[in-house]
Amino acid sequence: MPVLAVLLLLALTASVQLHAAAPPASVVAVANRDAEGAIVLDADEAHNFQPSAAACRDSCLNTTGCNVWVWCAAVSGCVPGGSYTRDQRRYQQCWLKYDTPPKQGASTRGKFPRPKNSADTATGWMSGTTAANFTDSAPFPEKGYSCSCVSTYQYGGYNFEGMCAHIQDYGSACIVTTNCRESSYGGMQGCSGTQPCTVLLDTDLNETSIITPGDYNTADSAEDCCYQCASTQGCNLWTWCVDPTGCDGERYRFRQCWLKQADPKNPQPKKGYGGSPGWISGVRLTWMPM
Ligand SMILES: *[C@@H]1O[C@H](CO)[C@@H](O)[C@H](O)[C@H]1NC(C)=O
Ligand SMILES: *[C@@H]1O[C@H](CO)[C@@H](O)[C@H](O)[C@H]1NC(C)=O
Ligand SMILES: *[C@@H]1O[C@H](CO)[C@@H](O)[C@H](O)[C@H]1NC(C)=O
Repeated sequence: MPVLAVLLLLALTASVQLHAAAPPASVVAVANRDAEGAIVLDADEAHNFQPSAAACRDSCLNTTGCNVWVWCAAVSGCVPGGSYTRDQRRYQQCWLKYDTPPKQGASTRGKFPRPKNSADTATGWMSGTTAANFTDSAPFPEKGYSCSCVSTYQYGGYNFEGMCAHIQDYGSACIVTTNCRESSYGGMQGCSGTQPCTVLLDTDLNETSIITPGDYNTADSAEDCCYQCASTQGCNLWTWCVDPTGCDGERYRFRQCWLKQADPKNPQPKKGYGGSPGWISGVRLTWMPM
């Protein structure tokens, strides 16, 4: 009997913590990251354009030797290597590359795929990997290239973790509470808005409330929507429609950027991970539960 009781208790505990399963590695990518690697398919030469990041990933899966894909998601175009200006003709270009995958169990956050652009430089590229047994993620913010502080604050009943960011009404500064681990400037510090963001492809994350409906708000890229969320007080989830043919079968949703609220520690996909073609979601500068 005691064994049964313990089992029952365990079962109850498990059912109370209804956490969504971790997203499969196949839907995880990083926005605002061009990636290094030996070129397997030159998108310029091959005219490889793909309608979505997921299609670029599939094209990598279908191509022998490819384990890194780089896709131009920004509607305004992407910055080619060695240049500083956006090239509109690169929109939807899909580059396929190979890079040596990390050793099993190695600490790899932010190191594979190897970023080609600095974290605070916007290039419009999004990238991901098809390497086996590996889940991608954006790097932790580091001193030197972004805010030199990590902020933790509470708002609207939620804990916000991650790097500091512009907050509306505070101008170009980080808002940092006393919880900030490094607050050497009295809580305010210059901060680059552009950062790499971990994203979930073809996924619409569920919300408890909507802060800014995408019906009235657009973004040029996933990192743009991610940044809008970071600079909106109380936002901790965002969802952006990347597909020019529309999302949810509705063409006008293209570029919509929804700023939302939900438990950032336990994001729940509305139709399962990968079940909402065209939508790209992220958790606001908060570590994804992976
Ligand atoms: C990848 O291969 C599958 C099966 O052969 C095919 O259905 C799909 O269209 C291919 N995708 C791309 C992007 O080439
Ligand atoms: C991936 O993990 C599985 C199970 O742990 C293992 O059998 C396989 O060899 C791994 N693949 C690679 C490429 O490391
Ligand atoms: C989405 O969130 C709402 C409000 O918290 C909840 O009622 C609903 O069951 C959730 N749906 C899914 C699919 O998680």
